Amino acid sequence: MKHFTTVNDISNPYSLVQKALEIKKNPGKQPGIGKNKTLGLIFLNPSLRTRLSTQKAAMNLGMQVMVMNIDKEGWALELEDGAIMNGSSVEHIKDAAAIMGLYCDIIGIRCFPGLVDKKMDYSEKIMVQWMHHCQVPVISLESATLHPLQSLADLITIEEHKTKPRPRVVLSWAPHVKAIPQAVPNSFSEWMCKADVEFIIAHPKGYELCEDYTSKASITHHQEEALRDADFIYLKNWSSYTDYGKVLPVTENWIMTTEKWQLSNNAHIMHCLPVRRNVEVPDSILDHKRSLIYQQAGNRVYAAQAVLSNMLEEINRKSQAASPIMEMEP
Ligand code: CP
Repeated sequence: MKHFTTVNDISNPYSLVQKALEIKKNPGKQPGIGKNKTLGLIFLNPSLRTRLSTQKAAMNLGMQVMVMNIDKEGWALELEDGAIMNGSSVEHIKDAAAIMGLYCDIIGIRCFPGLVDKKMDYSEKIMVQWMHHCQVPVISLESATLHPLQSLADLITIEEHKTKPRPRVVLSWAPHVKAIPQAVPNSFSEWMCKADVEFIIAHPKGYELCEDYTSKASITHHQEEALRDADFIYLKNWSSYTDYGKVLPVTENWIMTTEKWQLSNNAHIMHCLPVRRNVEVPDSILDHKRSLIYQQAGNRVYAAQAVLSNMLEEINRKSQAASPIMEMEP
């Protein structure tokens, strides 16, 4: 695994799930693997879970961690090649990435979309430039389009709680007061399309996700039809992809209710958090014993640790291959 920015960076999601579940039994089992290795975490946007769970995972592996809130503490970054930098940007992304690559063995980066220019956001300009210039493995801490550490934690949580080999998993759009990125639903869909589940996406008209991530999903505009017999219900808002970044008017009531929930197979409720309580999801559902929201957040540690562990094993293997033990002369 050179980088971890999409499910396509790994050969088999279930190998990583099994590794994470093994780590969860004894998170401190591999303390030496990250000795003298540095993880740099770069945030262009706020975070609670991703920042702390990835730091904890790295500490469990014996790594040093440096965190930089580059949006608040760093120089304003220039993204355009060949730019004449006589405006507000102070440092080119290629310089910042190259230099952080000298200080770190692995870099994690969070870079949300602007939700204005679809082409720019879906080109993943910041993530791609960072990977190109930093020369070390990069982990997405949520990019413009995807959030793979969250999706891995979600798949781990489903594996732990499923009661049948192929559960019915429903991603159901939920209301919100502002425009929210598509990264979590894109990513969840990308992972569920590779998982052994029956996967359904329910959303109002106008909220179709990018087809690159939903190829194997069943898609409906009828929420109650989707919820029928569901084993897991993932509630999440996202802004429009087609009318890019917009909050479109929705006349039907898409908020989850106890009555709608009763259509399901006593489904577990999921959400990546943070959640706007009583706007996106009611308290009574988030705080119900069938809710897995804290289990998902807890599993973020083991998801990050499994990814970091794989990267460190690869780094250590390469460094041993580069300096073989010399044969002793008699
Ligand atoms: N779910 C998630 O990524 O949470 P944070 O934005 O707090 O990191």
